[in-house]
Amino acid sequence: MTPEDPKVFISEEAIRRCVRKLARRISKDYAEAENLHLVGALRGSFIFLADLSRALTIPRSVDFLAVASYETNVAPKGPVRLITDLRTDIAGKDVLVVEDIVDTGDTLDYLMSLLAVRGPASLKCCALLSKPACRKTSVRIDYLGLEIPDVWVVGYGLDDKERYRALPYIGIRSGKDAD
Ligand code: IMP
Ligand code: MG
Repeated sequence: MTPEDPKVFISEEAIRRCVRKLARRISKDYAEAENLHLVGALRGSFIFLADLSRALTIPRSVDFLAVASYETNVAPKGPVRLITDLRTDIAGKDVLVVEDIVDTGDTLDYLMSLLAVRGPASLKCCALLSKPACRKTSVRIDYLGLEIPDVWVVGYGLDDKERYRALPYIGIRSGKDAD
């Protein structure tokens, strides 16, 4: 680590424990399911989904979609839009949406509404992190890793203007980079 690196907020070991715990719960709950279909929301969730899917002990398949918030000059974030859709039909499938972090709740709310009308057998969601203090839209998170305060975190897939996604831990920006 260099002094420029973000401060450790959640260590690699703590992330590993958290992912293992989530995977145990999900594997147990879906033990009877024929196949669990994981839907990752790009880009932030790609590392979490890779680890979570490998820690599951049940049959599962993976697909991705990509979403983004409209850029606005006035508000911090605009409404959510779909950039890339799934490749597979989810009708009749047990779908678990995998998100990196739930902040305002807008993205998760959008995703769940988008997928609910496609006729999945079941539809739930799993998020590694949640910032309840930032919620604007109320959403249910069926499987949650950790609640965190209102701070901007990076690493383990999460970015700050595309930086830091590959950090192995979850950090908080420090030094001259921090706003
Ligand atoms: P929401 O729609 O406000 O809930 O935001 C969800 C998305 O914003 C997440 O999937 C992330 O991509 C991004 N996001 C929210 N908070 C953070 C953060 O602290 N660090 C990095 N990305 C974040
Ligand atoms: Mg995300």
